[in-house]
Amino acid sequence: MKVLGIDGSPRQDSMSSLLLERALDSAKEEGAEIRIIKLINYQIPPCQGCVSYNGVCTPEECLRHDGQVLKEIFEELLSSQVLLFATPVYWFGPSGLMKNLIDRMTCLEHEKKLLDGKVGGILCSYEEEGASTTISQLFLALSDMGLVFPPYAYTYNRGKELSEDTVFYAEQLGKNAVKMVRSIKGIHWWNR
Ligand SMILES: Cc1cc2nc3c(=O)[nH]c(=O)nc-3n(C[C@H](O)[C@H](O)[C@H](O)COP(=O)(O)O)c2cc1C
Repeated sequence: MKVLGIDGSPRQDSMSSLLLERALDSAKEEGAEIRIIKLINYQIPPCQGCVSYNGVCTPEECLRHDGQVLKEIFEELLSSQVLLFATPVYWFGPSGLMKNLIDRMTCLEHEKKLLDGKVGGILCSYEEEGASTTISQLFLALSDMGLVFPPYAYTYNRGKELSEDTVFYAEQLGKNAVKMVRSIKGIHWWNR
């Protein structure tokens, strides 16, 4: 089983990354293979919005435009059973890096629900305000893309040190996501 952490902070050793690492380590202890994509290391061009003028919105079309960078990320997303999204709060929402990826993932759900039944989790780092709006935004998009969530599927850490509580939640999330993959046994949820 593969668990992929997607890190939306542009900073090295960021709080989001540290939180994500705790979740991933815990998934590893539960028997999963873990991988991290740090979005700042990829130059992902923005979504061209093809879907809004009845254009073709498929992975093939997206890759035809943007080639190798996106291909590598799509392959990681599609070959993982768990997707954990970590982001700092930037103006009450996810970072631009994370939002850009979410937009680009439209082609993975628009014609075929290619992410259907993958187990998701959200980890978020903030300073003052906006964790709940950020998490809600990600939930809405990811649920619509077909992800399913275990109980206690998110955590948010305030400030420049990890709190015991958020670490506990991150570790639970890592373990529970793996358990959930095992318990739902590849069910398909999109009934069309
Ligand atoms: C452009 C920008 C916008 C931000 N907006 C918010 C915000 O709306 N609410 C908040 O609590 N913190 C905000 N912050 C602070 C970061 O969320 C906070 O420092 C976070 O812990 C950084 O996470 P990281 O260490 O994973 O990069 C903002 C920071 C930046 C750079």
